[in-house]
Amino acid sequence: MLEDVERILFHEQTILSRLDELARDITEVYRGQELTVIAVLNGSLIFAADLLRRIPLPLKLDCLGVASYHGGTESTGVVTFDQVSIPDIAGRHVLVIDDILDSGRTLHAICARLRSEAQPASLRICVLLRKRVVRAQAMEADFVGFDIDGEFVIGYGLDYQERYRNLPFVGVLKREVFEGSLASAPDKE
Ligand code: IMP
Ligand code: MG
Repeated sequence: MLEDVERILFHEQTILSRLDELARDITEVYRGQELTVIAVLNGSLIFAADLLRRIPLPLKLDCLGVASYHGGTESTGVVTFDQVSIPDIAGRHVLVIDDILDSGRTLHAICARLRSEAQPASLRICVLLRKRVVRAQAMEADFVGFDIDGEFVIGYGLDYQERYRNLPFVGVLKREVFEGSLASAPDKE
């Protein structure tokens, strides 16, 4: 796996230090409230596990399995949900955790569904990474680990064709790994 990494953007210790700060911010915002966290699988699994253990608040944890269809490294905008029903979030303060905000389509689809099927008391977004790109769907994140350029990254939960999620750092994937690949299979987020 390591030979496919162009360069490391954020080492494990850098990520964990940043999570300490993020967790403090989140704890301040939700102190005294009924918090429900919804982790978007699979990409946010490792991020959410490390982040939530730094938040000393009582909270409920739900997971949402989502797949976006990709052509190579670009999202095509088609988002499907694994579960028929969404978590019960009526009247709850909801924090959605995802790995990365790129085109905005995935998080837009998730928020639209959560709002249409339940009335959360509030709905905020937390992402590990936010790409500096023009978004196909207007979407803001309330808590952001790191801003990055528009390169395709892997590791710390993020995949390319389901690989590399278990790298302990976030790195840029070598172009030669995905160039020439015309994959368009659904990708578990
Ligand atoms: P969006 O719908 O374009 O915002 O993309 C959201 C999803 O696409 C993320 O949850 C990731 O699963 C995937 N994604 C977008 N950019 C990257 C990347 O650079 N590396 C790995 N996955 C990515
Ligand atoms: Mg993915």
